[in-house]
Amino acid sequence: MTTNYEMIGREDINDLEAILSISNSDVDEIVHTVRAESDALFTWDYSRSRPALIKLYEKAKTSQWNAETDLDWSIEVDQAAVALANQQQMNGTDVFGENVELKGTVFSTWTEDQWIQLGIEMQNWSLSQFMHGEQGALICTAQIVETVPWIDAKYYAATQVMDEARHVEVFAKYLDTKLSGHYPINAHLEMLLDDIIADNRWDMTYLGMQIMVEGLALAAFGFMHQMTTEPLLKKLLRYVMSDEARHVAFGVLSLQEFYTELDSREIRERQEFAFEAAVRMRDRFLQQEVWERMGVDVKEALTLVLQDPNRQQFQNILFSKIVPNCKKLGLLDAGDGWLRDRFTDLGVIQFEDWLDTETEYADLDEVARDRATA
Ligand SMILES: [Fe+2]
Ligand SMILES: [Fe+2]
Repeated sequence: MTTNYEMIGREDINDLEAILSISNSDVDEIVHTVRAESDALFTWDYSRSRPALIKLYEKAKTSQWNAETDLDWSIEVDQAAVALANQQQMNGTDVFGENVELKGTVFSTWTEDQWIQLGIEMQNWSLSQFMHGEQGALICTAQIVETVPWIDAKYYAATQVMDEARHVEVFAKYLDTKLSGHYPINAHLEMLLDDIIADNRWDMTYLGMQIMVEGLALAAFGFMHQMTTEPLLKKLLRYVMSDEARHVAFGVLSLQEFYTELDSREIRERQEFAFEAAVRMRDRFLQQEVWERMGVDVKEALTLVLQDPNRQQFQNILFSKIVPNCKKLGLLDAGDGWLRDRFTDLGVIQFEDWLDTETEYADLDEVARDRATA
C-alpha cells in the first residue's frame, strides 16, 4: 500500500511545517523544462464514433470568443477599492474574520493600509497563479492532441488548446494593465503540473488537468466571480468559466469510456493520483508567498488563517466540482472506497451529490447566451 509519505512527501496532510518547506527556489527562472516521455499517436481510424465528443466539439467551435474585442478593457480598476470590497464581502473587516483572536499577534498593530495592501497582494497572487495554471492547461492539452488515440478527442482537444491560449492571454493582460505586480509560480502548483506533464499515460493528463486542476479552477473562478465587484474581472471570469466547463466535461466523457477498460490495480493508481493532486492544490491555496511578501512570520499567519471557519469553507468549496466528477467516473467508490475515505479526511465529501460537470456544462455557457441576446 502506498503511504501518504510516498504520495505527498509527508505523513500528516495538515503538517504546516512540511507544506511551507516547499517553495519556489528559482524565482528568476524564465524557461522551465519538463521531460515528457509520452508517445505521440496517429490514428488511421477517422470515423466519427463518439457522439458526445462531437457535440462538445461543435459547441466549442461556436462558443469561441475574442479576448481583445469581447471584453471592455477601457474599464479602469482601482485595485485598493477592489481589495477593500473583497475584504468586506468576506468577513466584514479583515481577512481573518471576527472569530480569530488577533490580540498579541503582529496583526493587532496593522493599519488599514496594511490590510488593504494584503488584499492587493492576494489579488496579484491569485491572478498570477491562475495565469500559470492556464499555461499548464495549454501545454497539457497540446499534449493530449498528440497522445489520445481517438480522432474525436484530438479534434476537441485542439479547440481547447485555443481556449487555453486565450485564458493565458486574458490573465496576463489583466495582471499587466489592471493590477500591480506578478508572482512566480507557487511550488506546489508547479510540482503538480510537472507531474501531470511528465506522466506518460495519456489518461493521467486528463485526470490531472481536466478533472483536478480545471475542476478546481472552475470552482475558484466561480467563487471569485461571485465575490468581485469589478465588472471587467467579473465578465472575464464568466467567459473563462464557460470554456472551463467544457474542458472538465471533456475529461469526464473521455475517462468514463477509458476507465471501463482498466483493472482494479490501475484504478487504484488513478485514485492515488487524484488524491495527490487534491493535496497539492490545497497546499497552494495557503498563499505562502503573500505572507512572505507582507514581511510577517508565515507559519504564524497561516496558523491564524486556518482557524477561520470562513477560510475552511472557501477551501472546501474549491472541491465542489472535483468530488461529483470523481464520483461519476467511479473513482470515489472503486476498490474499497479508498478515495471516498481520503476526500472525507479532506472534509470535502459533502459535495459528492452536487451536479457533475458533464451534466451542467451547457448551462454554464455565458458566451452562447450573450450571442443569443446580441
Ligand atoms: Fe483555462
Ligand atoms: Fe481549461
